[in-house]
Amino acid sequence: MMKINTPIKIAIFLSVFIFLFALILFYLADNQSDNVILFFLLLFFLITVSLIYYVVKRFFHEKIKVVYKNIYKFKGTSRLQDLDVENVEKEAEDWANQQEKQMKKLQTDENYRREFIGNVSHELKTPIFNIQGYVQTLLDGGIDDSDVNLKFLKRANKSVERMINIVEDLEVISKLETDKEELLVNKFDISLVAREAIDQLEMKANKSNISLVFSNESSTDFVMGDRDKIQQVFMNLISNSIKYGKDGGETRVRFFDMEDNMMIEVADNGIGIDEDSLSRLFERFYRVDKNRSREIGGTGLGLAIVKHIVEAHNQTINVRSTKDVGSTFSFILEKVK
Ligand SMILES: Nc1ncnc2c1ncn2[C@@H]1O[C@H](COP(=O)(O)OP(=O)(O)OP(=O)(O)O)[C@@H](O)[C@H]1O
Ligand SMILES: [Mg+2]
Repeated sequence: MMKINTPIKIAIFLSVFIFLFALILFYLADNQSDNVILFFLLLFFLITVSLIYYVVKRFFHEKIKVVYKNIYKFKGTSRLQDLDVENVEKEAEDWANQQEKQMKKLQTDENYRREFIGNVSHELKTPIFNIQGYVQTLLDGGIDDSDVNLKFLKRANKSVERMINIVEDLEVISKLETDKEELLVNKFDISLVAREAIDQLEMKANKSNISLVFSNESSTDFVMGDRDKIQQVFMNLISNSIKYGKDGGETRVRFFDMEDNMMIEVADNGIGIDEDSLSRLFERFYRVDKNRSREIGGTGLGLAIVKHIVEAHNQTINVRSTKDVGSTFSFILEKVK
């Protein structure tokens, strides 16, 4: 049997049917009274409606329904009773756009992953080759040379420390990226946390003659958040302010009130960051000056970790900076009264 599945076939099929009905009805209606004619017209109207309804439902609705169901599988609802064509068209388009976006995201994620692995191995290579060099020299007789043996062992040990640092940072990042629930949000004294971080970095700051100044200008010391993670944020931001500070400079850690929130700021008067780098600062492995940064032991993971932690608190990390003038990093946390 010929399939009635194209618009033209459906149109011909319907026209033939309706035309035949009309012929029969007019034939029957001939010589009848007005009332009977009215009845026939009504009957004709009803039959036409049913026929068209049947055809549309059968050939059109059913086909669309399949497509629509597929779309809705992704959207999680379905109301197939009142499918309307414009809606379907719009939703199919939205769906296609969404699919495209997802594909693009997967693609960039994949690129990101590749780049990331490349960066990791590159960063680990330097300390590994250093260690190999020192060990080799020791093996080649250096071990008996009291002038160099201890020195080389100490240097090798430094490279091991560096590797451990990198691996630990990577671990922190991957933890933050995989289980987002991991935050232990509690009320805690953020002044205390800031002072602890400052105490731990005091020695390092002294070496560069940088003074660390803390002031709480907010009405409280207590905020909601993950104490240990916020401690890490302070460690990373303050240690950056020292690493990229100027000799004799100053780092200020300050808290301000912002209605129900507290704004936390770490500001330095160091080397600053040029505008082009600002937008990339929080990317993993990004360093403004790769060589200089690596010399002073930077991997470019510190700020990526900071960003993750602040975002896990549903906040954003902000930075303002002027080259040769200084940089200010800030974020907010919810206050506890
Ligand atoms: N306070 C700052 N002043 C000037 N430049 C900064 C400052 N903080 C960060 N930067 C720049 O941003 C880059 C990225 O910082 P980030 O903390 O992520 O990495 P890092 O300090 O180089 O290494 P890591 O923190 O992993 O040891 C740094 O290399 C540096 O160029
Ligand atoms: Mg850093």
